[in-house]
Amino acid sequence: MQTVVITGGTDGLGKGLALHYLRQGAHVIAVGSTAGKGQALLAEAETIPTGRAGFVRSDLTSVAASQDLVERLAEDHPVVDKLILCAQRYRLFGDRVTTREGFEHSFALAYLSRFVLSHGLHDALRAARRPVIMNVGTPGVPLGRIHWDDLQLTRAYSGTKATLQSFRANDLLGVAFGVLHAGSGVSYIGYNPGVVSTGMPESLPQPLRAAAKAFFAMFATSVPRATAPLTALLDDPPAEPFTAYWRKRRLSPAGRAFARQDALRLHDLTRELIPR
Ligand SMILES: NC(=O)c1ccc[n+]([C@@H]2O[C@H](COP(=O)([O-])OP(=O)(O)OC[C@H]3O[C@@H](n4cnc5c(N)ncnc54)[C@H](OP(=O)(O)O)[C@@H]3O)[C@@H](O)[C@H]2O)c1
Repeated sequence: MQTVVITGGTDGLGKGLALHYLRQGAHVIAVGSTAGKGQALLAEAETIPTGRAGFVRSDLTSVAASQDLVERLAEDHPVVDKLILCAQRYRLFGDRVTTREGFEHSFALAYLSRFVLSHGLHDALRAARRPVIMNVGTPGVPLGRIHWDDLQLTRAYSGTKATLQSFRANDLLGVAFGVLHAGSGVSYIGYNPGVVSTGMPESLPQPLRAAAKAFFAMFATSVPRATAPLTALLDDPPAEPFTAYWRKRRLSPAGRAFARQDALRLHDLTRELIPR
C-alpha cells in the first residue's frame, strides 16, 4: 500500500487527489487547518473501502507546526511514496499579516511550509520505490519576483506582490531541491494546473469574489478533470530531479524563473530564516 501525503488534501485539488488515491488503494494522509474539513474527508473516505485515510490538523502558516508535522509523519511513515503540496490561502488584498513567528503570511504558508516539508521528508521519500514530490502552484506564469532585499515585504507591501513572490519562490524551491538532492531518486515536479473550479474564490473580497466565481463558472476545469494529468505524472514521474509542467506541457528549464543561482541563493537565505 503506497503512502501519499497531501497538504491541503481536505479541499479543492488536494481533496480530489486524496479521493483518487484512496480509490487506488493508497494510504492517504491529508493535512489541513480546519478540523471540520478533515472530518468530512474521513467520512467520505469511509465509502471508499480500497484505501485508508488519515487526517492531520496543522496550521502550516507556522514553521514550527510544519517541522512538527515532518517529525510526526517521518515517525509514523518511514516510507512516503508521494508528497503533494497544495495548501494555500490567497491574501491578494488587505493589510500585511504576519504569522506568530513574524513571517509574512504568503511567504510562510505558500513557501516556507513547502520548503520544510520537501526537505524534511526527503529521507522518507527516498526510501520509496518511485518517490515524487509535486508542488502545485503556478510555474510558467511570468509574473512576480523575489524581493531579495526585503523577503518579508516590510516596505511597500501588497497582497498581490506577496502572493506572486511566493509563487516564484516555489519555482526556485524545486530547482534547488533538484540540485541539492540530485541522485537521490526523488522526482520534484512544479505543476501548474491551470484554472480549476475550487473554493479558491471564497478567499477574495466582494465584488471580486463574484467576478472570480463567474469567471470560474465559464472557464475553469472541474477538479476530477484537472486531476487526471496530475495523477499521470505522479504515477510515472520524470527521471530528472526537477521538472515543471503547465498541465500536460513541460516547461523549459531555461529562463529566470528557474535560475539555478537564484534557487541556491534563496535556499541559503531560507535556511538562515528557519530555526532548527
Ligand atoms: N484553483 C486554481 O485555479 C489554481 C490555479 C493555479 C494553481 N493553483 C494551486 O493549486 C493549489 C491548490 O489550490 P486549490 O484551488 O485546490 O485550493 P483550495 O480549494 O482553496 O484548498 C486549499 C487547501 O489548503 C488548506 N489550507 C489553507 N490554509 C492552510 C493552513 N494555514 N494550514 C494548512 N492547510 C491550509 C485548506 O484547508 P483548510 O481550509 O482546512 O485549512 C485546503 O485544504 C494551490 O497551491 C494553488 O496555488 C490553483
